[in-house]
Amino acid sequence: MKALVYLGPGQKDLRDCPKPTLVDATDAIVRMRKTTICGTDLHILKGDVATCSPGRVLGHEGVGVIDSVGAGVTAFKTGDRVLISCISACGRCEPCRKGMYSHCVHGGWILGNSIDGTQAEFVRIPFADTSLYPIPEGADEEALVMLSDILPTGFECGVQNGKVAPGSTVAIVGSGPIGLAALLTAQFYSPAEVIMIDLDDNRLAVAKSFGATHVVNSADGKAAATVMTLTGGRGVDTAIEAVGIPATFNLCEELVAAGGTIANIGVHGVKVDLHLEKLWSRNVTITTRLVDTSSTPMLLKVVHAKRIDPQRLITHRFELARILEAYETFGRAATTKALKVIIQA
Ligand SMILES: NC(=O)c1ccc[n+]([C@@H]2O[C@H](COP(=O)([O-])OP(=O)(O)OC[C@H]3O[C@@H](n4cnc5c(N)ncnc54)[C@H](O)[C@@H]3O)[C@@H](O)[C@H]2O)c1
Ligand SMILES: [Zn+2]
Ligand SMILES: [Zn+2]
Repeated sequence: MKALVYLGPGQKDLRDCPKPTLVDATDAIVRMRKTTICGTDLHILKGDVATCSPGRVLGHEGVGVIDSVGAGVTAFKTGDRVLISCISACGRCEPCRKGMYSHCVHGGWILGNSIDGTQAEFVRIPFADTSLYPIPEGADEEALVMLSDILPTGFECGVQNGKVAPGSTVAIVGSGPIGLAALLTAQFYSPAEVIMIDLDDNRLAVAKSFGATHVVNSADGKAAATVMTLTGGRGVDTAIEAVGIPATFNLCEELVAAGGTIANIGVHGVKVDLHLEKLWSRNVTITTRLVDTSSTPMLLKVVHAKRIDPQRLITHRFELARILEAYETFGRAATTKALKVIIQA
C-alpha cells in the first residue's frame, strides 16, 4: 500500500509499505477513505516530537471503512464506516477510567507517532472498540475528519481548560485550524469578546467570518497593547495558546487578566520562559493538556444537529498520490490560504 513516511527532520516521502495486519485481538484494520494533515505533523517534521522515529507512517486523523477486526472486537464489523480518534484508548487502565484517555497506559497519542498512522491506504487501530466511532447514516465524512483531532482539541484544551464562560473575554493566539476550532467551540458558551491573533491576514479574515469579535495581526509586535486597549486595560479572562512557540506563550502571559486562565494547546519543542516575576500576584491559572477526545461523542451530536459546520475549515482536496503537494500547500498557508486539506485514499 502507499503511505506517507517520516524519514527524519525535514524529510518525508510517499512510499510502498506492507499493508498492516491484526496484531492484538482488540485491533481493527481500517481502509482509509479520508485523512488530513495536522500542525502537529509539521512539528514532527521539524524534529519537535522525539517519540516519532524515522520510518513512521504519519497521520492521526481520518474516516474509513473496517477491513477486518480481531476476535476481541465486538462493537464493529467488516464494512462499518468509522471515525478514527487521534487518541487510542484501552478504556480499562486508571487514566482511561478517569476519562484521561490521552494518558492511556497502553495507548494515548500513538497513531502517527509511536505506531503507524492514517496517511496511508490502511491503518491498524488498537483498542478499536474504544478508539473508533460509528459514522451516523447521512453524515458528511469530510466534516467528520475535523472530529478526529482539531474540534476536540480546540474545545478540551482551549475552551474547557480555559473556562470560557458567558460574557467573558477570550483571546486566541494562532488562527490556524486548531485556533479556529477553539473559536467555533468557544461560542457554545457565549463569550462577550473573542479576539483572534495571528500573523496571517487571510486566516484572520476567516476568523472574522467564524465569529471573532476582533482580529489582531501581531506582526508589528504591538498585539499585547492592542488587546489591552480592547479590554479597557484589564486583559482577557481566557488566553488560549494555539501555535506552539515561545513568543506566543509569552504573549498569552501578557494578555491574561488578573484571575484569568492561560490555556496552552500548542505542541512546544523548545523551552519557554514562565514570567512568574510578573504573574505571581495575578491569581492566574495555567493549564496544559493533550487532547483526551472525551468530548467526541458530544461534538458528533453538535455537528449532526448542524450547530457548527466543520466543512468551513476545509480548503483543499488531494488524492493520496499527491500527498506531498498537500503537505506543501498546508505548510505554505500564508500564500495558499490553506486551512484543512482533505486527502482521499
Ligand atoms: N495539545 C494537543 O493535544 C494538540 C492537538 C493538536 C494540535 N496541537 C498543536 O496546536 C498548534 C496549532 O495547530 P494548527 O494545526 O492550527 O497549526 P498551524 O501551524 O496550521 O497554525 C498555527 C498558526 O499560528 C500562526 N502563527 C505562527 N507564528 C505566530 C506568531 N508569532 N504570532 C501569532 N501567530 C502565529 C500561524 O500563522 C498559523 O495560522 C500546533 O502547535 C499543534 O501541534 C496540540
Ligand atoms: Zn493533530
Ligand atoms: Zn487505557
